[in-house]
Amino acid sequence: MPGEFEMEDPKLRTILLATNNPGKAAELGVLLSSRGWESLRPDQAGIRCDVSEDGETFAENSARKALAFSELTELPVLADDSGLEVDALHGAPGVRTARLAEGSDVDRTEALLSIMHGLAAPLRSAQFRSVVTIARRGSVLAVGEGALRGTILVSPRGESGFGYDPVFLPAGGKKTLAQLGMPEKNSISHRRAAVLAALEELELA
Ligand code: IMP
Repeated sequence: MPGEFEMEDPKLRTILLATNNPGKAAELGVLLSSRGWESLRPDQAGIRCDVSEDGETFAENSARKALAFSELTELPVLADDSGLEVDALHGAPGVRTARLAEGSDVDRTEALLSIMHGLAAPLRSAQFRSVVTIARRGSVLAVGEGALRGTILVSPRGESGFGYDPVFLPAGGKKTLAQLGMPEKNSISHRRAAVLAALEELELA
């Protein structure tokens, strides 16, 4: 039956990552391998797919990406849609985080800092959110969500990770996500929580 998930099929321990973002793919690959799943990036699977991400919610965009990629492969597919919600900006940039400014991650981080210019520390609280969708052959099999609370600093610190990591200080921590490095980031991140929740749902299905 199309979309049916058969746990006994060994090919299903390999999952296609529905992302063209190398930073995200690297984190997802490590998170999945810690749970016994192999993962492939689209370029490794010979797949090209650009999905418009103009949905109203992370869940909508995540499902769109997973379903679009799942039409192009027999493998199960995992998509993450994520972004930053700043409390003082009523949750913005939210689903528009990737489109906050043209150019690079550095350009977008500068745009965020300039929007938040003059906001004192207590008003700089924020969260990263991630919604992970696992789909196969045009059907959603599982969805997981995660969040990471923290504060947006006034200037970047650290070199690792991607996106807004250099300005995000996790709650209760002293290092930004870009100073922590991937193993520590992966132990606390919004993406980890979302991936694990989705895998749990999948494996219980
Ligand atoms: P998406 O690819 O549409 O999900 O866009 C996510 C946006 O949020 C991009 O601008 C990413 O750089 C940013 N983002 C998502 N997760 C993280 C993270 O873990 N660290 C830093 N930036 C992130």
